[in-house]
Amino acid sequence: MTAENAHDTPLRPLEPSAFRDVIGHFASGVTVITTALDGALHGTTASAVSSLSLEPPMLLIAMNRSSATGQAVLRSGAFAVNILGEGDDELARRFAAKGDDKFDGVGVEIGDHGQPLLVDALAQLVCRVTQQVEAATHVVFFAAVHEATARPGAPLAYYRGKFGRLSFD
Ligand SMILES: Cc1cc2nc3c(=O)[nH]c(=O)nc-3n(C[C@H](O)[C@H](O)[C@H](O)COP(=O)(O)O)c2cc1C
Repeated sequence: MTAENAHDTPLRPLEPSAFRDVIGHFASGVTVITTALDGALHGTTASAVSSLSLEPPMLLIAMNRSSATGQAVLRSGAFAVNILGEGDDELARRFAAKGDDKFDGVGVEIGDHGQPLLVDALAQLVCRVTQQVEAATHVVFFAAVHEATARPGAPLAYYRGKFGRLSFD
């Protein structure tokens, strides 16, 4: 078989549980994607975040269509990526839940572009959506990064369904 005709061969889809188990070996950081719409704050824990290009500075996020935050991003056209620091498991779990009270008791400041920023985050990036693509259950948002700040510290890590910490030798 050549690379040119590989797409002609019917393939059985992989079991979703097998995919989840194997892709879970790809360790990631953890973020909270936030946005503001009509005066209400929205936020969700997300690990499907990737740097895209340096010139211009761009990143992408993938949001399930069922995410209230994703739907708010669709309408607001902007969001912030709040990169969580080591020990912020509690914050990650809180924003992975559903509900209108996720921001209760959480330190938030509104950035220059109107996006809610989690003050305890390790880093914050303020983004404007440039393009969105629907794919399977998700919407992929491509976005230009307009502001970025970080403080010294270590990141929260996510690996095979568990929160942890990065260690370097
Ligand atoms: C570690 C972790 C990473 C997650 N990453 C994503 C993600 O990248 N995209 C997504 O749509 N949901 C992701 N989720 C699930 C959402 O956080 C969850 O569905 C949440 O309830 C959505 O809230 P919302 O409907 O208020 O936006 C993740 C959850 C966890 C715990």
